Amino acid sequence: MNQPYAAGIDIDAPSYVQHHGAKEWVARIAALTKPDRIRWCDGSQQEYDRLCDEMVKSGTLKRLNPRLRPNCFLALSDPGDVARTEDRTFICSQQKEDAGPTNNWVEPREMRAALDKLFDGCMRGRTLYVVPFSMGPLGSHIAHIGIELTDSPYVVVSMRLMTRMTKKVWEILGRSGDFVPCVHSVGAPLVPGQKDVAWPCSREHKYIVHYPETREIWSFGSGYGGNALLGKKCFSLRIASVMGRDQGWLAEHMLILGVTPPSGEKIYVSAAFPSACGKTNFAMLIPPAAFKGWKVSTIGEDIAWIKPGKDGRFYAINPESGIFGVAPGTSEKTNPNCMAMIRSNTIFTNVAMTPDGDVWWEGMTDVLPAKLIDWQGREWTPDCGRKAAHPNSRFTVPATQCPSIDPEWENPEGVPISAFVFGGRRSDTVPLVTEAFDWDAGVYIAATMGSETTAAATGKVGVVRRDPMAMIPFVGYNMGDYFSHWLKLGRSVPKRPRIFCVNWFRTDADGKFIWPGFGENMRVLKWIVERCQGKAHGVETPIGRVPEFADVEWSGLEGFDDEKFRRVSSIDGSEWRRELKLQDELLRLLSGRLPRELALRREALERSLG
Ligand code: OXD
Ligand code: MN
Repeated sequence: MNQPYAAGIDIDAPSYVQHHGAKEWVARIAALTKPDRIRWCDGSQQEYDRLCDEMVKSGTLKRLNPRLRPNCFLALSDPGDVARTEDRTFICSQQKEDAGPTNNWVEPREMRAALDKLFDGCMRGRTLYVVPFSMGPLGSHIAHIGIELTDSPYVVVSMRLMTRMTKKVWEILGRSGDFVPCVHSVGAPLVPGQKDVAWPCSREHKYIVHYPETREIWSFGSGYGGNALLGKKCFSLRIASVMGRDQGWLAEHMLILGVTPPSGEKIYVSAAFPSACGKTNFAMLIPPAAFKGWKVSTIGEDIAWIKPGKDGRFYAINPESGIFGVAPGTSEKTNPNCMAMIRSNTIFTNVAMTPDGDVWWEGMTDVLPAKLIDWQGREWTPDCGRKAAHPNSRFTVPATQCPSIDPEWENPEGVPISAFVFGGRRSDTVPLVTEAFDWDAGVYIAATMGSETTAAATGKVGVVRRDPMAMIPFVGYNMGDYFSHWLKLGRSVPKRPRIFCVNWFRTDADGKFIWPGFGENMRVLKWIVERCQGKAHGVETPIGRVPEFADVEWSGLEGFDDEKFRRVSSIDGSEWRRELKLQDELLRLLSGRLPRELALRREALERSLG
């Protein structure tokens, strides 16, 4: 039976929705937010097309030239709503200590009272969309279900690209299945007769709130992907990390790729990098021509859910079904697979538009276009002194369009992981590649990883911050407990992956990258794969095992000599002693819950550095 919510209006749930608790929840949220109408989304192509048409009419989307970019759209956001707002992101656990010192915390009752006020009537004049979605292949034992209630049609169509959004989710839920309730509002109610803007959001209030104990997500005031597509960072990382801690699995900010050597002995690697450090490029890497018979395939490029399997290995799925990638820097040279992927059926946000209705961003072509409309809708010329695309501009596209998609990417059992790779953006200190001596040493390396910040979140760009496992903005509980979980879970998995650390970003005296990166990262990946297969040689250093020049495949890379290799892979004792001091800031911050193994590893490292 449907529930009346406000002023006697019925929520009008379709008959296939049998979940009484979900219907009651929708009724409760509708009574609070007071939308003009409710739409139950079914995830169909017709629904997607209709919503896109409506948004073209309302001015939220522009249809791009169908000849150049068939079925593609461009959205330009409010200039103040362009990135994740980490300072407005909260983990509201019952106890402050359980959120830990790396998360913003507010006492849940206090937060609920504040949000109740903000959400009261916040959907007036708008439609409340009910979005059922599965993170992971439907019915997989590694997958989980969420329902997002949102007043943003841009969020609805983006969720259809990024998640398995389908009415079949209601069948899986039945009458009483578990789901993560996600409530989102752009926080811009309309009074009768008020004309809407192209990108509604709240300039005064932004809140991205997680209640880990009740596994709820509430997001207010932003339409930006990482704040508003609640299946992504909020569910698949912050809430899922808590579920993983409680249930014995891992939710990680990791890409997953397959590598097939000429021998056919394929292995899967999962790699964590902070936002905007080239995860999408690495996940879709095309090996250089000299690597005959080598193939890289893509399972995912942002998030991995990883569960111990019965055979003593870790198995991973990509919980997402789409890619929300950073556009600037993406080109035929840096990522041809990606350029092919975004030729059609893509929603672009905050990129520039060419006069013939195509898209452009910095780094896409060597020659700059003579004229563009920039990401704020203004005329742009190469000499105007402004960027044409926002540095965090994005494309949203179904993963099925990725030319390198792995045949196993929808396998509900996941794929077995042989190596975990951790990488930050460091202009010095950290060598090209290191293999940890063992699991605990690997967890230490990953836990103390630092990276120079990028434009994916608001804040200062280019300063080194500690970003343990690339998860600093994404762990939904105390970071010290998260390290303990990693240590413990790894020990319980007999055939656990080897752990590696990479750094593509060392610079020379002029600030230029020394390592060519992109497809050439295959040279490092080959060494990693062959270490896992027990074939490659490495030498011991105080921080781990590293390849010597002769251990890396160099054919086809002219001019990268022994000397250049030394500059990207040297380990300098004094830099590392300074690094340990910097790492101490994080270790001290977490001291209340820091696992003893990591403190011991820190001492051992200091001793071996001398
Ligand atoms: C992302 C991010 O969008 O990490 O993937 O910010
Ligand atoms: Mn990410």
